[in-house]
Amino acid sequence: MIAIYPGSFDPLTNGHLDVIERGRKIFDRLVVGILKNPHKQPLFTSEERKTMIEEAVKPFSNVEVEIFDGLLVNFARERGCQVILRGLRAISDYEYETQIALINRKMAPEIETLFLPTSAEFSYLNSTIVKEIASFGGCIRGLVPPAVEKKLRDKFDRGNLSNF
Ligand code: PNS
Repeated sequence: MIAIYPGSFDPLTNGHLDVIERGRKIFDRLVVGILKNPHKQPLFTSEERKTMIEEAVKPFSNVEVEIFDGLLVNFARERGCQVILRGLRAISDYEYETQIALINRKMAPEIETLFLPTSAEFSYLNSTIVKEIASFGGCIRGLVPPAVEKKLRDKFDRGNLSNF
């Protein structure tokens, strides 16, 4: 069975990586789908995000990384994914995630959404918080994979304090 783990990943955090590591053990293949969203101005381009994720998932043979735009369910169908995997951090995620899951099910009843509870140690973590800490020169070690940490430092060392 093939699952897609979609998201913005701007950038990948250790919370995302936790879901990838655990998800890849459940499914034969896991496609990490990076949304290229024309309505949002990300800090990292989709290609930069892809490179960082590829570096982090190098040890995992059944994980692939792809960029998509448009509807997630269309991309999932194209790639033969039967499951959409999403991480749930806290009960506050539940409402939004259920809304997305139900809308996706309406459009593609053959694709199931599965929620994986994030490990407790990452339950407070998201990409926005990581970008904010990095932008003010705070320590992000342990919050993101090493390749992401370096990229964030490079980005903010060059004085880019906007876009998050
Ligand atoms: O990491 P995010 O930003 O919470 O991920 C949200 C994502 C990418 C899963 C969602 O916005 C999405 O699937 N967008 C693609 C467009 C789409 O299919 N929209 C309908 C369902 S929201």
